[in-house]
Amino acid sequence: MRRKIVAGNWKMNKSFPDAEELIAEIADKLESMDTGHQDVILCPPYVYLEMATDIAEDSVFSVGAQNMNENDTGAYTGEISGPMLTSMEVEYCIIGHSERRKYYGEDHALLARKLDAALRNGIRPIFCCGEVLPEREAGRHFEVVKKQLEESLFHLTAEQFQQAVIAYEPVWAIGTGVNATPAQAQEMHAYIREQVALKYGESMASETSILYGGSCNASNARELFSRADVDGGLIGGASLKADEFLKIVTSF
Ligand code: PGA
Repeated sequence: MRRKIVAGNWKMNKSFPDAEELIAEIADKLESMDTGHQDVILCPPYVYLEMATDIAEDSVFSVGAQNMNENDTGAYTGEISGPMLTSMEVEYCIIGHSERRKYYGEDHALLARKLDAALRNGIRPIFCCGEVLPEREAGRHFEVVKKQLEESLFHLTAEQFQQAVIAYEPVWAIGTGVNATPAQAQEMHAYIREQVALKYGESMASETSILYGGSCNASNARELFSRADVDGGLIGGASLKADEFLKIVTSF
């Protein structure tokens, strides 16, 4: 179902006590907020997931991982699988973040397998797509995003696809302080929705949540989220402080 969503991607930040303090503060403040119209998801590093899901039991936020292995079990030293995440009550997993694509060589085919692994384990994927700067400058951004969707996401059945959330994250906007303009975000989100409609039909497209990510913060979230096809945000840097993150949560 199409929901307003704000998800925090903590990346590789925070010590355990700092992470615990931040999650407890967010949970505490969420208690007195009206969040009936939007979903809040926190994606801390793996090693804090159990602590996060413990706190989430008495709160309105959900917990997501930032990555997962495409296999369910086996000799993959250092990796974390879908069944492990499910056993800790993790509900979401970011898949295809540009940092995973760039630093860990995650390609379209691997991401397709990770999406399958998430879905067969009952985990809702937050699938990231987005172009790098030279691709935008060359006017290839639609083509690039279309390929990312087609090669990794669109093999899913309709039943599987309806569990997915899409995040459009132009790579040139991630961690740079230069966000996409609301018009640029809207244009791409509308395009993504159109691609979903072509593949799965209009009603699926109108029910899909498409988030924006890339230097989204408490100052620009309201304008970005006001656009018709922008259903919320995937927030990096600005999710590391409770007050800033919660301002974004209420920017609808
Ligand atoms: P940023 O990161 O908000 O720090 O730009 C967003 C993301 O990478 O998900």
